[in-house]
Amino acid sequence: MNRNEQLARRVIDCFYPAGELRDLLWTHSRAVADKVLNCLKKRNMAGIDPGTAELAALLHDIGIIRTDAPSIHCHGTLPYLAHGMAGAAMLRPLGLYLCADVCERHTGSGLTAKEIRDQHLPLPARDLTPRTAVERLVCYADKFFSKTPGRLTEEKPLEKVRAQMERFGTASLDRFDALHREFG
Ligand SMILES: [Fe+2]
Repeated sequence: MNRNEQLARRVIDCFYPAGELRDLLWTHSRAVADKVLNCLKKRNMAGIDPGTAELAALLHDIGIIRTDAPSIHCHGTLPYLAHGMAGAAMLRPLGLYLCADVCERHTGSGLTAKEIRDQHLPLPARDLTPRTAVERLVCYADKFFSKTPGRLTEEKPLEKVRAQMERFGTASLDRFDALHREFG
């Protein structure tokens, strides 16, 4: 286990008892982190520190335990969409500010204040699109993996991801396509 994995495991273990949900979170997060590292290798991006991006990927979904999503073993009270905000609130007291921002800004291809308002989403109506390169990269890589038990490490084909983004509107797909041009 590398140092990022050790730190991420320690943080996850603070909030997650051993069991199916913790295993699911870890497998999903590792798949996303592997894609993040592969994108960086392929593009040879000097501006992004791979270690920082890996740690952020390993922690981006830590908030799911606070949500109500029984099909993936989450028995909290928040709507699933709020898992990014919940994760940020869990990580900030630990001083993991950069990872907290990644949590908050990775949902879909990001969400604008207008989308949150217009669609009455259960989130604060402020800009939640990914800003930094690390935020954008983790958001992008995450879209290729579902949390369906049994299919956690199966990378979705690009066209399937694009179709899923389009369901949330053309602006959502446009943002994803921009991420794909940057990292794909
Ligand atoms: Fe994720």
